[in-house]
Amino acid sequence: MKVSGYTLSDSIQDRAEYERIVDKTKEAILSSYSDDSAFSGINPYQLRRQIEKIGLLQEDGLGFDRTLQLVKDEILPHLLRTWSRSYMPHLHSPALLESLSAEMIISAFNDSMDSWDQGPAATEVEAMVIKELLRLFGFDRDCGDGAFTSGGSQSNLTAITAARDKVLMNKFSWDVKKKGLIPDFHRLRLYTSEISHFSMDKSAHLLGLGYDAVRHIKVNDRCQVDIPSFEKMLKEDAEKGLIPFMAVATLGTTDYGSIDDVGKIRRLSDSYGMHLHLDAAYGSALILSDKEKKRLGSIELADSITIDFHKMFLLPISCSAVLFKDKKDLEPFLLHADYLNREEDEEDGYLNLVGKGIQTTRRFDALKVLFSCKARGRREYASIIEKSLSNAEYVYRILSGDESFIAPVKPELSSVVFALKGGDDLNRRVRRTLLEEGCVIGQTVKDGSVMLKLTLLNPNLEKEDLENLIKHIKEMR
Ligand SMILES: Cc1ncc(COP(=O)(O)O)c(C=O)c1O
Repeated sequence: MKVSGYTLSDSIQDRAEYERIVDKTKEAILSSYSDDSAFSGINPYQLRRQIEKIGLLQEDGLGFDRTLQLVKDEILPHLLRTWSRSYMPHLHSPALLESLSAEMIISAFNDSMDSWDQGPAATEVEAMVIKELLRLFGFDRDCGDGAFTSGGSQSNLTAITAARDKVLMNKFSWDVKKKGLIPDFHRLRLYTSEISHFSMDKSAHLLGLGYDAVRHIKVNDRCQVDIPSFEKMLKEDAEKGLIPFMAVATLGTTDYGSIDDVGKIRRLSDSYGMHLHLDAAYGSALILSDKEKKRLGSIELADSITIDFHKMFLLPISCSAVLFKDKKDLEPFLLHADYLNREEDEEDGYLNLVGKGIQTTRRFDALKVLFSCKARGRREYASIIEKSLSNAEYVYRILSGDESFIAPVKPELSSVVFALKGGDDLNRRVRRTLLEEGCVIGQTVKDGSVMLKLTLLNPNLEKEDLENLIKHIKEMR
């Protein structure tokens, strides 16, 4: 007797139940919001009490309908609505409509990327997409390689691991994979700007090098690595017997979108035998725009690059990739397991992607990239990205022309950092008040002062929305 009611299957009942579940879920999502606010504005204590009441496991289940109803009543109203035109705090984007279809396919099939037999077409799609990305970012598609990861932090961790192992082999013939760190590992140094992403420091800790291994270079008035300071730092460190192994240029800093000079950092990296990584988690989407991609500089000179599709590319979390110019740099991640990636299968053409990264079980995120690139095409995708850049420029112009505001850095990408004159407490209050009203904006610190931040990724944002928001903020003085 056939059993049904558990998973998708070929039974008529399971197919019908799947359709019903999808329809009801779609309905619940669409009826969960009726205005353009990003958030219900509920206070955290009240929300916590409400959520704690739900609990988790009970002896008898509620079934799908009652569970969906519970989620619809208690959780959906307070989820953050990333598509709202009142949501602009972080590099956290709404998802392009067609990518929601890709997500449905990914979770329904639930293929995994670790071995060919867990995702035959998925493996081949990811391999093809990686090759196309290598070409797009100026690397040779046959010499390079890469992998999808859970996000920019993991892409950076992957690159730092690869760089550490490669440089220790090149400089000391030391095999980290086999022997662990060199005895005087505390002399290893990674160079990056003082405003680069904290995943540099976190990775240094996780890799056994510690925060002290990360040298933070001063930035200039455009928030880019200050090259003379970098040069001086390298010289001083060499005199102290420190071992430079990696330089990281950020192409799109988290707060300012500023872009480091890849050509100049490459020159210094070469002088000291360093791997050059580009953290382009934010700025990589500029590659799609003929008009704007020159801002990225000579990316093809890098050894590796982080690309986040769940930021400016507007794809659902998680979706990131790390690319390497030389496929040999991925060797640290290769390990044969009897149950998974047998060498004899690989000799016969079965590609097992587990050897290309940190994770084992991994989602088929490459489908979202394929889906949106195919659905939109380069030209339309570029116009989405260009719109966020022009919105940022527009807000910056309003703020710089208004005496009530300070806007210290001209935006390079789609984020604008500013403050309402009147002090830190006033700016903190502005953000909190907006949050309670359902409008979520960012807050950061520049030179010791509290600043507000708008990250304008949403292509539905119009100039009028931005004018109204600035006017509203000004009225809070
Ligand atoms: C420049 C940069 N690199 C890396 C990251 C980390 O990316 P993720 O949050 O996807 O791990 C971020 C996140 O904002 C970022 O701005």
